[in-house]
Amino acid sequence: MRKRIAVLAGDYIGPEIVAEAIKVLKAVERRFGHEFSYQDAPVSGEAYDKYGKHLPENTLEVCRQSDAILKGPFGGPPSELNHPKWAKVEQEAILGLRKAFNFYINLRPVQPVDGLLHLSPVKEENIRGVDIVFVRELMSGMYFGPKGRQVENGEEVAFDTELYREHEIDRIADAAFTLAMQRRKKVTLIGKSNVLTSSVLWREVVAKVARDYPDVTLDYQHVDAASMYLISNPRQYDVVLTSNMFGDILTDEASVLVGSLGLCGSASLGDGSFGLYEPIHGSAPDIAGQDKANPLSTILSVALMLRHSFGLMEEANGVEKAVFDVLAKGYRTPDLAAYDPQGTKVGTRQMGDLVARAVAESK
Ligand code: IPM
Ligand code: MG
Repeated sequence: MRKRIAVLAGDYIGPEIVAEAIKVLKAVERRFGHEFSYQDAPVSGEAYDKYGKHLPENTLEVCRQSDAILKGPFGGPPSELNHPKWAKVEQEAILGLRKAFNFYINLRPVQPVDGLLHLSPVKEENIRGVDIVFVRELMSGMYFGPKGRQVENGEEVAFDTELYREHEIDRIADAAFTLAMQRRKKVTLIGKSNVLTSSVLWREVVAKVARDYPDVTLDYQHVDAASMYLISNPRQYDVVLTSNMFGDILTDEASVLVGSLGLCGSASLGDGSFGLYEPIHGSAPDIAGQDKANPLSTILSVALMLRHSFGLMEEANGVEKAVFDVLAKGYRTPDLAAYDPQGTKVGTRQMGDLVARAVAESK
């Protein structure tokens, strides 16, 4: 199979970890007989330096001509966050990419790795066997609703609006139920319908969509209770469906079950198979260029690319298995080694080599 991948490596550790993910993709090409091409395009800090813009038109064009986007983390060091190079990266580059391609589906799998359950501060008995996929709405709600800032009666007033249209809920609900059909056939909708009208609409629309999927069980929880159950009883979840804002918060909370942001990938999709794949952690300026960053969340994101954009299930499973096997053998990047002094400490590049080799040798 031939595929074109746009590579937006991003800032600080971005290029280092994206290079390891490409190493693994190349191993997939050789092992399974595919041909992928990789087009680099500047974004975020690099694009700002070159063009004074975080998401230039020629980068969007490279993305448009590709079958998927591989994205590294964007953002600058805390001390420079007010500098124009970094101040609007989130809004312009991250939200800009979501908007440009109508990526309204955000999939965030949460699957603690056997043998690494001790990385999580949550009790091992609570997280053993947890396998959740968050389906977060990504194109609407408070992020994109009417917002503003003004002075009223001599004081500052600011507002953001949680506004959802029926079709926006309908399409993300459909994505969640379709995914649940391929899994354990349960969708938990999370909202705040005891207070928010928008959550009432979510419940109505999702209940309607559920009728088309009689085999899937639909559960509903308020977000405050759900944030507690995520820690105390996370095994109850299969597919979790929620709004943009609640999804942002709950997926960070859920990453604690895995124990490391370095082991959490993310996929953003629209109507077709075109998608964006990225780690959920930041650009870690403090360890950039030192061969210390953990490339596994980017490598796991590449597995999501193979599955969701290219329909290559065996290849996707192969990459995930390679990651789990390398971890099972005790190899640890510094972030993971801190919890496992007995493990074999490896750098960014060696971790990429190990996973690529495991893919190459997979049966
Ligand atoms: C995420 C991030 C982004 C979001 C930020 C960086 C805009 O937190 O992908 O979860 O809020 O969606
Ligand atoms: Mg977030």
